[in-house]
Amino acid sequence: MKPETLAAQALHELDAATGAIVPPIQLATTYARDAGYQLIGPGYTRDENPTPAHAERLLAALDGGIEALAFASGMAAATAVFRAVCRPGDHVIAPLVGYFNLRNWLEKLSARWGIALDLVDTTDLAAVRAALRPGTTRIVWIETPANPTWEVSDIAALAELAHGAGALLAVDSTCATPVHTRPLALGADLVMHSATKFLAGHSDVLAGMLVTAQHGEAWARIRELRHDEGACLGPFEAYLLLRGMRTLYARVERSSRTAQVLADRLAALPDVVVRYPGLASHPQHAVAARQMTRGFGSMLSIQVGGGAEAALGVIRRLAVWVPATSLGGVESLVEHRYTVEGPDTPTPSDLLRLAVGLEHEDDLFDDLREALAGR
Ligand SMILES: Cc1ncc(COP(=O)(O)O)c(C=O)c1O
Repeated sequence: MKPETLAAQALHELDAATGAIVPPIQLATTYARDAGYQLIGPGYTRDENPTPAHAERLLAALDGGIEALAFASGMAAATAVFRAVCRPGDHVIAPLVGYFNLRNWLEKLSARWGIALDLVDTTDLAAVRAALRPGTTRIVWIETPANPTWEVSDIAALAELAHGAGALLAVDSTCATPVHTRPLALGADLVMHSATKFLAGHSDVLAGMLVTAQHGEAWARIRELRHDEGACLGPFEAYLLLRGMRTLYARVERSSRTAQVLADRLAALPDVVVRYPGLASHPQHAVAARQMTRGFGSMLSIQVGGGAEAALGVIRRLAVWVPATSLGGVESLVEHRYTVEGPDTPTPSDLLRLAVGLEHEDDLFDDLREALAGR
């Protein structure tokens, strides 16, 4: 079946006891044993709970993986990969541009655990090849499109490079979602999503997901780590996530279409630089056109010139866009990442990140045009 059908029907898993067409929430943390002292169901919720397990099965199907694991947040999912796979003395490659909180955490991990870390421009294959240490590099981590300037990394080429050096390729696909990119089909080993964003889709649940292409030692260690440390997703959150995933394709295709319209219109305005993989002027547009499907995502950024004050002035004049962090919800958000990330950030001070939601494109564009005219 097509992914829209799998998502809309949450895998067509009707409740056997009642025929309910909405997946039920199972809140029990513990489960009885039978007369032979055998478990009838899962056992204990930190190991398994039917509600997150349903969301895991659905995402594994949408991402084309063999299994998924739900975590309490995107950061819990991402950090589990490094902590499960790496040992002191190992080497990791991560992107120069990407979710800043993970980059900061990797720097702490590197210092505290004795793991060598190279922050590399992962759009530059020669740079990645030069950084790889065959036999010692355990993980090549990429984010594509990458927060907040939306560089696109070539998943298939990087998978080949990583595998040639004996490393895993893990992809933060939060902003692409399974709608636009299926990294496992392109050769990646692991996919990570901050499910807080597009998968859940309504800015009301914190969740993370990992999906694997194969059952290997790395996956077994990740599963063990989630069990041992308990960073699992609660059933209420999993219920909301599953509910959001049922409309994933309709939401993401719509917001991505609007993002393309906004990028095209904003690019025609004077003194605005637009960063969006769907524009022919984007430096990796050809890679994006090859590896992304059904559009180029719902995230774009603009540079307004004039530094931080000018960018904050534009935000103050906006009436429709909500000034808030995060992305992937039904409402469009604008954020000045330079303020949020702090003075060490590589993010330009005049950059505004735009997370496109489901409002009408004319309302979103007119609001931006008027705010920009006030510069
Ligand atoms: C691309 C990306 N990866 C990971 C994360 C972390 O996810 P969470 O906030 O669910 O922990 C975020 C959050 O903003 C993100 O944007």
